[in-house]
Amino acid sequence: MNADYKKMAGRLMVALDYPDAEQASELVRKLEGIPCYLKVGMQLFYTAGPDFVKSLKDKGYSVFLDVKMHDIPNTVKGGSHSVTRLGVDMFNVHAAGGVSMMQAAKDGAETAVAETPGLVMPTIIAVTQLTSTSQAVMNNEIGIDGSIEASVVHYAKLAKAAGLHGVVASSLEVEAISSACGPDFKTVTPGIRPSGAGMGDQTRVLTPGQAILRGSHYLVVGRPITASKDPRTAAEQIIEEMIRA
Ligand code: C5P
Repeated sequence: MNADYKKMAGRLMVALDYPDAEQASELVRKLEGIPCYLKVGMQLFYTAGPDFVKSLKDKGYSVFLDVKMHDIPNTVKGGSHSVTRLGVDMFNVHAAGGVSMMQAAKDGAETAVAETPGLVMPTIIAVTQLTSTSQAVMNNEIGIDGSIEASVVHYAKLAKAAGLHGVVASSLEVEAISSACGPDFKTVTPGIRPSGAGMGDQTRVLTPGQAILRGSHYLVVGRPITASKDPRTAAEQIIEEMIRA
């Protein structure tokens, strides 16, 4: 495995959006040997829970626990303490919870790390505007005026002020985030669609190559891999496209 391949595969986060551990494990088996990040979201975590996350860690994967916490600071601090103790490499909270909630997430993780020898501080990122949210929905339903980009950058600045390490956003917004928060502030970008793939419920989408060119640190890909007849080839093709870009 050459260095470019390993590096790019590590920037691909495969979303294990499955209803049970068996189906998720089956995909993991099909992807065996590809050093990608694995993302466990609410569908899988609510059913397969901490044991499944630990099994991925035992196999040597980096794990992003996409549980998007959004609650009062004390509760988020507790949640963050619990998920950090699982040994996840990354997890997230909603920036809409505000600065003190995001600081509480950091506090909870730091407390867990201080209590547990060998535990490494996870990367904590904030969800800005979901990649399924269009400007019309944000303006008319969520009640936030202005452009998506302005809202995303506003949330990114709050996340940075709270001491978080990055944000989830569309790769369309990466340039604006990086100029506001610096190039080391991590951008995790769902809404990735290889050309020809269906959009599903996503609205703000780019191809893997476009996302890399725009500077996304991590690309989150679900259905283009999980719904493919040949998930391994789909993942390999995405990594190849990322390398070419
Ligand atoms: O199947 P698809 O590639 O659209 O999956 C995208 C994944 O990224 C899903 O697991 C979804 O929950 C997640 N996600 C997202 N938008 C965000 C945050 C996470 O689509 N803002």
